Amino acid sequence: MHITRTVSLRHGSASILVFALSLFLVSCKQENVATNPSSINPNDQTPVNSSIPKSLAPLVDPADNPTTAAKVELGRHLFYDKEMSVDHSTSCASCHDVSSGFSDSRSLATSMGFDGQMGNRNAPSLANVAYNTSFTWDGRFGTLEKHAPGPIFNSVEMGNNFSQSAFDSIPSGYNSKPGNNDTNFLFKRLNGEPKALRKDINGKTYDDLRKAAWGPGADRFTLDMIAKSIAAFERTFISTRSDFDKYNNGDKEVLKYNASAIHGFQLFTDTKGANCVSCHSGYNFTDQSYHDNGIGINQQGDEGRFAITKLKSDVGKFKTPSLRNVALSAPYMHDGRYKTLEMVIRDNYLKGGKHNTANKDANIKPLTLSDEDIADLVAFLNTLTDYSFTADKAGRYANPWGN
Ligand code: HEC
Ligand code: HEC
Repeated sequence: MHITRTVSLRHGSASILVFALSLFLVSCKQENVATNPSSINPNDQTPVNSSIPKSLAPLVDPADNPTTAAKVELGRHLFYDKEMSVDHSTSCASCHDVSSGFSDSRSLATSMGFDGQMGNRNAPSLANVAYNTSFTWDGRFGTLEKHAPGPIFNSVEMGNNFSQSAFDSIPSGYNSKPGNNDTNFLFKRLNGEPKALRKDINGKTYDDLRKAAWGPGADRFTLDMIAKSIAAFERTFISTRSDFDKYNNGDKEVLKYNASAIHGFQLFTDTKGANCVSCHSGYNFTDQSYHDNGIGINQQGDEGRFAITKLKSDVGKFKTPSLRNVALSAPYMHDGRYKTLEMVIRDNYLKGGKHNTANKDANIKPLTLSDEDIADLVAFLNTLTDYSFTADKAGRYANPWGN
């Protein structure tokens, strides 16, 4: 694990108190974490993300992949590059759009990959994703570097093929299919001509960017470079400036006319009330753990964490998602079954879960909430939207290809 955290909160009243304290008493100045791409010098090897607010634990980069400005810049190009998919149609950003907190902005219940193919899961938001300790809804990847090739070689997402021999060496979990012959499409497109000579909106080619990030000798892409550069870019997805953060950092004016949200937060954290905090805890409102929250296994039979651990006690458990920018990432749950936040609360949590499955979490119990309480919880969740984060679509998260 590469992340140290000061706010690591689990169940129990003592930790809930720490949660409340960390939210209410740790008042600190928000520093500006934005880096405008025009101010990024690709040759700059100095670390990025050096000014994360004090209320958020410092990000510790993996020893073999320090986040440098030049790598971030290359990662941004790869993240937005549709040439990364087998039919030139789909980039990471197709399903992870910053306007929706880096979730799918097409309001699809489950993702659509290249050639209109439908996946079976909802694209999660990537706000503060570097703080996660596992990746995907069932947590089958342990680092961003290990995860990044996943969608690139996923047969439904970006569809790149490997030769059979290369395929045999891909770790399991990538859901890839071997190609018929040596179709190393991705590398041909990125290393070969003429696609490799494309210029971005500033006239830069991959050659320029790759050498800036990986040294003058880096004249060809490797999968390692691609994965590490994308991961470096993802580590800059830092969202810390929602109204809730401002309020929490002492700016009480922000929610002056929003008593509903303040009451919603009280319900959210009340262990005898809605007790959402028993799982949605810490700075990013996730305990980084897996639970059956009572929604029940869907018709596709997605058993979640069980597929990874093969433990019966994990059937139907999914990773608790972060709730940062949650108002922007509808529809909800791993299969996108709920269209609105109100439906999440009304159709699932209010009833103490919809289904009484074997592994349903003990903290999922029928709740006594009035219509007003439900509206208040939604009002609180709405305050977690960070509009300066999404506005960086025109700044540090801009599409460098202009398409
Ligand atoms: C076709 C849509 C699609 C594309 C393209 C796509 N993703 Fe995703 N992404 C998803 C879905 C769906 C999930 C959840 C997958 C699962 O649980 O199995 C996901 C999960 C993730 C996660 C895990 C987040 C977490 O905290 O669990 C990361 C990180 C991520 N994607 C980054 C990327 C990157 C980087 C790319 C490009 C290389 C990419 N995605 C391309 C749909 C997509
Ligand atoms: C027992 C742990 C637990 C508790 C308690 C809990 N949640 Fe969740 N929550 C989860 C898990 C796990 C998921 C993902 C489930 C899935 O997709 O299968 C989730 C999903 C969600 C989502 C969807 C987010 C998204 O991006 O799709 C919202 C919104 C949410 N919870 C809000 C709440 C609220 C509000 C409460 C309190 C009323 C609450 N949760 C209580 C574990 C919990």
